[in-house]
Amino acid sequence: MRLRGRVAIDLGTVSTLIWVEGRGLVLEEPSAIAIDSRNGRVAALGGKADVLADKEPQGINVVHPLCDGVVADMEATVEMLYGFLRRVMPRGMLHSRALMSVPAGATWVERRSLAAVLGARRPRYDVTLVDEPVAAAAGAGFDLSAGRGGFVVDIGGGTSEIAAVAGWRVVRAKSLRMAGNAMDEAIMAAARAELGMILSPRAARQLKTTFGLNGGTETAETVGIDAARRTPRVEQVPASLVVNALKPTVTAIARTVQEILSDVPSGLAEDVVRGKIRLSGGCALLPGLASEIEEAAGVGAVVAEDPLRCVVRGTAMLLKHDGEDGVPGIRR
Ligand SMILES: Nc1ncnc2c1ncn2[C@@H]1O[C@H](COP(=O)(O)OP(=O)(O)OP(=O)(O)O)[C@@H](O)[C@H]1O
Ligand SMILES: [Mg+2]
Repeated sequence: MRLRGRVAIDLGTVSTLIWVEGRGLVLEEPSAIAIDSRNGRVAALGGKADVLADKEPQGINVVHPLCDGVVADMEATVEMLYGFLRRVMPRGMLHSRALMSVPAGATWVERRSLAAVLGARRPRYDVTLVDEPVAAAAGAGFDLSAGRGGFVVDIGGGTSEIAAVAGWRVVRAKSLRMAGNAMDEAIMAAARAELGMILSPRAARQLKTTFGLNGGTETAETVGIDAARRTPRVEQVPASLVVNALKPTVTAIARTVQEILSDVPSGLAEDVVRGKIRLSGGCALLPGLASEIEEAAGVGAVVAEDPLRCVVRGTAMLLKHDGEDGVPGIRR
């Protein structure tokens, strides 16, 4: 018997999610791979690789092979994704089809290299790329059938996708190559400049999720390295440092929301207002972000249900609607 399998993949800068038809979400792991530098072999994948990233153990090179939602290191991406697929796909699978999301702003070359990842090893997958904002909108609960539409803001680790979509198509979209990772880097830079303290990306991420855009007089105890003495140090980091560091990224996102909103065709205005702007991706959970965007846009904004899984859920929905009019097709 020839086994057939159809999968939906969200290959993100920070996390990879895989959905298998008939089984649902089967894998959710950090997009990371650890290579043993002595023999070039894979030492760990996903979460087990990611925990080693900040700690720099000797002889281990931890790679996050995607940058801004696209392939930065082809060989490592192939190794990582096939490692994940081997865990979840039955042996002997033939004629596998994959639907994979791609940032709306990815160039032709970036799209080709994403698709090429799944043709690099056996079993090869027949890949169809789907625009991430369309997947995010479907996963955020917009009914895109019969030409209906909505407005989605998907903020992940590497990219922020701001888009109006309708009938499974992008109507207007812009991808910013700044999102959660840029926020973490801004917090690290501010801690170094204002407190003379070197934070790990993990510590910066923790401060981001604790305070977000909610200022006040609170502080959070954080451990880092003293930049002058190069020894570990404990510091009470004020919320204001975090809020100020996040501002440039949040302002750029809010401005782009205004820009795309001001270009929405009149026929889509009602869908946008009644459906509200829906936020997806991990940074949708940033405290205070939805109200900041609502204020800038003058249109209601809400966090989608289970925002980290919107893109893979929407991609899986496209698998279900395959063959219907207007739905990006996947050959069987
Ligand atoms: N509770 C939270 N509050 C704020 N930010 C969060 C929270 N949970 C996760 N994040 C951030 O969300 C980002 C990851 O989101 P997500 O998994 O959607 O990214 P991705 O899909 O891998 O990236 P991309 O779509 O850009 O390629 C990280 O920057 C992470 O720190
Ligand atoms: Mg994403």
